[in-house]
Amino acid sequence: MNRKAPSLTANAGLHKLANLGISLLAGAWFTTAQGATAVPPKSAPAKAPATAQTPSPGQTPAPAPNTASRLEKIGEALFNDPALSEPRGTACLNCHLPGTGFANNNGSRAGVALGSTANSLGTRNAMANFYSHLAPPFSFRVVGEDVDPQGGLFWDGRADTLNAQALAPLLNAKEMNNRTAASVVAKVAKASYARDFLAEFGPNIFKSPDLAFQKIGVAIAAFESRSTPTRFSSKYDHFIRGTVQLAPDEARGMAIFRDPERGNCAVCHTMNPTSADPKDSLFTDFAFYAEGIPRNPKIPANANPSRFDLGVCGPDRSRPALPPNVPGNVSIERFCGTFKMPSLRNVAQRQAFMHNGVFTKLRDVVSFYATRNSDPKRWYGPAGVPNDLPTAYLPNILRDRVPFNRPAQAGPALTGPEIDDLVAFLGTLSDGFQPPQR
Ligand code: HEC
Ligand code: HEC
Repeated sequence: MNRKAPSLTANAGLHKLANLGISLLAGAWFTTAQGATAVPPKSAPAKAPATAQTPSPGQTPAPAPNTASRLEKIGEALFNDPALSEPRGTACLNCHLPGTGFANNNGSRAGVALGSTANSLGTRNAMANFYSHLAPPFSFRVVGEDVDPQGGLFWDGRADTLNAQALAPLLNAKEMNNRTAASVVAKVAKASYARDFLAEFGPNIFKSPDLAFQKIGVAIAAFESRSTPTRFSSKYDHFIRGTVQLAPDEARGMAIFRDPERGNCAVCHTMNPTSADPKDSLFTDFAFYAEGIPRNPKIPANANPSRFDLGVCGPDRSRPALPPNVPGNVSIERFCGTFKMPSLRNVAQRQAFMHNGVFTKLRDVVSFYATRNSDPKRWYGPAGVPNDLPTAYLPNILRDRVPFNRPAQAGPALTGPEIDDLVAFLGTLSDGFQPPQR
């Protein structure tokens, strides 16, 4: 996976990155296999080749040269700082590495993230944070009788803004494990970027730890929302801009992805290949569904057979109130077991999939979609019944649309070669694609 790193960096150079802009990438690649972050070199080489000045005809020009603001640079320094965990060693970056699809579980292979202390395996798979700034706040989408939760951050949508989200891992015992906001602020006050922090937020900021803590969230959110030239730089993005063609298997995969009778993936993972604006192809509309994901036995908390992650219904959040426009016969119980649909951008780089990280191969994810109904024993064991929700919530699992609406006797929804094609197509969604030189 990490072997993809140089191409991203090289591509960044092509896009006229200024010295500062590349440090997101440089910081990310200097990471050991365990996920421990080493200090990146102070100035990564980012000389733009002369050709980058003149985009070839028909090519959408690269985003403006990367001039990160001071606020964004502080946010980046905070994001990459392994001193902000207790004990030190776990930065945000350790769980959100560009080389592994902006996710990663801090070196854990259990499918869920390992925090800064030993035995701190959590209960959820790290999510990619590279496109998170595009998620709307949590709400309920009501279209006639159809109601779906949507938006927010985290698998259960419990944070509405990146600012608020960023503060959670700092204080989560299973992640960065700081006891108090003040202890985080004390670490920031001693950091190399403390001077910039003072310049940005005023000379007295460290004297108000609560306010300073909020500002940490503001800076990290600014960094995460910064428009970088590596965003929307996948082969698919080049394809919709007309600068590259998909290979035959990738093109077949895209057709299956969009075909309402076969993959039907695009009905949820929204895309529009006829629009040259990549924001029309986020591969999610941030809606929540219960797919009947198999239980992950590697999660230590799952040793307790009556422990379930119900997503929108907790236990990591309080159940949200339904708004008045939701039909009266719909209760929150109907959404227990639903999780936010992630974008599929950079998904091929990730090492674990779904909210509980139960799958470690992309092909297994696609095979699950193809055979959940026809071969349930493969996924749920001898009983062949979805095994990661209490019986009362099994009716919440999707059964009313392709590929999940097939009777078992109808066989797999997709053939082996179709699964391969879908996996090939998903591979076109990884940022940092370098179009062949003409
Ligand atoms: C130990 C691993 C770990 C660390 C460290 C970590 N995260 Fe995460 N991150 C996760 C996991 C796991 C989730 C999903 C958690 C959930 O749904 O409850 C997540 C979710 C997120 C999301 C939500 C993405 C979305 O689209 O909904 C963002 C943004 C994010 N993290 C940013 C950060 C920031 C900023 C930091 C540092 C302050 C950080 N993370 C530190 C593991 C980690
Ligand atoms: C009904 C809406 C829906 C449809 C249809 C759908 N998905 Fe998904 N997809 C989701 C949701 C929701 C999740 C997250 C589920 C969870 O973790 O509980 C998800 C997760 C994924 C993931 C894992 C992403 C990650 O980062 O962990 C992949 C890959 C994926 N879907 C591919 C596909 C493909 C390929 C198809 C078509 C065969 C498809 N999906 C059809 C809603 C959908």
